[in-house]
Amino acid sequence: DATAADAVAAIERGEPVLVHDAADREGEVDLIYHAADVTAEAVARLRRDAGGLICTALSHEVCAAFDLPFLGDALDHPAVTDERLGYDERSSFSLTVNHRETYTGITDEDRSLTITALAEAAADPDEGDFAATFRAPGHVQLLRGAPDGLADREGHTELGLALAEAAGRPPAVVVCEMLDAETGGARTPADARRYAAAHGLVYVEGRDLLAALRR
Ligand code: 5RP
Ligand code: CA
Ligand code: ZN
Ligand code: ZN
Repeated sequence: DATAADAVAAIERGEPVLVHDAADREGEVDLIYHAADVTAEAVARLRRDAGGLICTALSHEVCAAFDLPFLGDALDHPAVTDERLGYDERSSFSLTVNHRETYTGITDEDRSLTITALAEAAADPDEGDFAATFRAPGHVQLLRGAPDGLADREGHTELGLALAEAAGRPPAVVVCEMLDAETGGARTPADARRYAAAHGLVYVEGRDLLAALRR
């Protein structure tokens, strides 16, 4: 497998990386891009070759600046409970959004517009008026990073944001689970490694990112 430094270098170059969290957590491999690099072609690859939920993770600080809550805190519905997830203490889900200049919000062009605008907003959170640029609900799921990043939570949300930080880029990354197109189950690490090799991409284990990037 690639090293954490290889993964950081790939994000610096604008390439996606494959990240397996841990066998005893979700046991999922996410395809991760820096949000600024998500063209319509990248959304197509995420749909076709990953197939999970296309999410954009923003750091805790950026979410605070834009008043983006954890969804579980914002909703008052009996289906929202304190019950723990099987694999973590809480979900990182925040709102769903569309850029205001999208039509339906779901096309590859629309989602790439929403996602690249999120990257721009995250680069300068004190500048923009979030609600003037984006509307909710929408077709891009936002994820809010944990306050202390990887010291707090070891999800793809925080792993992706730590890669962006180490690459010196704004705290906005797109993560999407790689599913097996035939079975619909999670792609195995072995299968994801084959995909990475076939496409010249970096595959990295979450534990190697944790060892290098957790502070
Ligand atoms: C949203 C998810 C993904 O697993 C994504 O990787 C974010 O979650 P986490 O930070 O818990 O890994 O469930 O589609
Ligand atoms: Ca209630
Ligand atoms: Zn995940
Ligand atoms: Zn998941």
